[in-house]
Amino acid sequence: MGLVPAPALVAAGLLWALLSLALGMEGSRPESLLLKSLGLSTKPNPKAPAPVPSVLWRIFRKREQLSGKQGPERACRVEELNVPGNILRVFADQGHFIHSGEPRPSLCLEKRLYFNFSALEEGEQLTMAQLEIQFSHNSYHVPSGGQAFELQLSQALGPSLRGTASRLHTRKLLVAQSFAPLHKSLFFNLTEVARGWRAPSKNLGLILELAVGSSVSPPRRPQGLCDSFLRTSLLVVSLSQKQCNASRQRRSAYDAPVTPSNLCKPRRLYISFSDVGWENWIIAPQGYMANYCLGECPFPLTEELNSTNHAILQTMVHSLDPEGTPQPCCVPVRLSPISILYYDNNDNVVLRHYEDMVVDECGCR
Ligand SMILES: *[C@@H]1O[C@H](CO)[C@@H](O)[C@H](O)[C@H]1NC(C)=O
Ligand SMILES: *[C@@H]1O[C@H](CO)[C@@H](O)[C@H](O)[C@H]1NC(C)=O
Ligand SMILES: *[C@@H]1O[C@H](CO)[C@@H](O)[C@H](O)[C@H]1NC(C)=O
Ligand SMILES: *[C@@H]1O[C@H](CO)[C@@H](O)[C@H](O)[C@H]1NC(C)=O
Repeated sequence: MGLVPAPALVAAGLLWALLSLALGMEGSRPESLLLKSLGLSTKPNPKAPAPVPSVLWRIFRKREQLSGKQGPERACRVEELNVPGNILRVFADQGHFIHSGEPRPSLCLEKRLYFNFSALEEGEQLTMAQLEIQFSHNSYHVPSGGQAFELQLSQALGPSLRGTASRLHTRKLLVAQSFAPLHKSLFFNLTEVARGWRAPSKNLGLILELAVGSSVSPPRRPQGLCDSFLRTSLLVVSLSQKQCNASRQRRSAYDAPVTPSNLCKPRRLYISFSDVGWENWIIAPQGYMANYCLGECPFPLTEELNSTNHAILQTMVHSLDPEGTPQPCCVPVRLSPISILYYDNNDNVVLRHYEDMVVDECGCR
């Protein structure tokens, strides 16, 4: 065991945890170990899960199709968004509507936007943050004449005190723009701002204001416009470096070959997430072919057994002294990644790339 390379050891641990679960050993320790390796403190229990954003479905499906062709350098890049990263999260907005004392007549919506970043781990490097503001695309709601509306987005820098003139000092204006009210979604690059939110005390969120265009006189409350406001969400891409370095190319397919033999080789193991009681928070896949290594490592070791010189010597010693020295172990020597789409502990939707999830090849070590 002392000679098993570190990544294989880690992977063997992960696989053992999966196996224990799959085999019905309901001990909470393997489960919590596995959750921890997935970056979760406890098993998520989504209460009001948001619909899965189409961008995540698109990337997930593309990766499923590409699995097998994905090179190691691709694993830590999100090609679709052209940024480095292996974790994509869509944070749900947890801010409240603001009912300020003296609304401007044209102002029809004022809302705090808050995204809880506690899921981001320390070692993760934030590479992209994009805010999406969604409107229901209902022509009934479009104000007559297609008049423009004005959008202001500010970063909250301190608690806003009701009815004081200090409003300007507690906000930093990021965006002030006019838009035709026909967009289904508006997108804003918040990469810089979101980087500053890594420290929880610095994350006071944003203030979103919507108003009718000032050119319209007399201003009237464009209720239709504000009724068409649906929700906001923040797409965040980050890079967890320690997952990247272990990157290897997947070899053939998910399926291990089936040839009757008691020699060391990959055996088929399908892990179904519903069998382990994880179906309510793992969105996709429903399960996958994880495989495992099992079999003899007899003397003399043949080349197909992918042994080390040490293992060859160990089988020789074992054949001379079967009691004193064990056979080498049949362990994973090549593993490949999969992507999992799930809800985390804050009901955010996450697409994460996990290394070392599938055993492709075994060896005597
Ligand atoms: C953010 O989420 C964490 C974990 O769920 C929770 O402990 C914390 O209170 C939340 N913070 C805020 C400000 O809601
Ligand atoms: C978003 O902003 C960051 C930092 O200001 C910049 O590096 C990046 O290129 C921008 N992304 C896009 C898509 O414009
Ligand atoms: C991963 O590789 C990068 C560069 O290749 C290196 O800077 C970094 O220290 C490595 N991280 C780990 C955890 O090995
Ligand atoms: C050993 O590696 C070769 C390719 O390098 C592979 O074809 C073979 O299946 C592996 N042996 C086992 C037992 O996995």
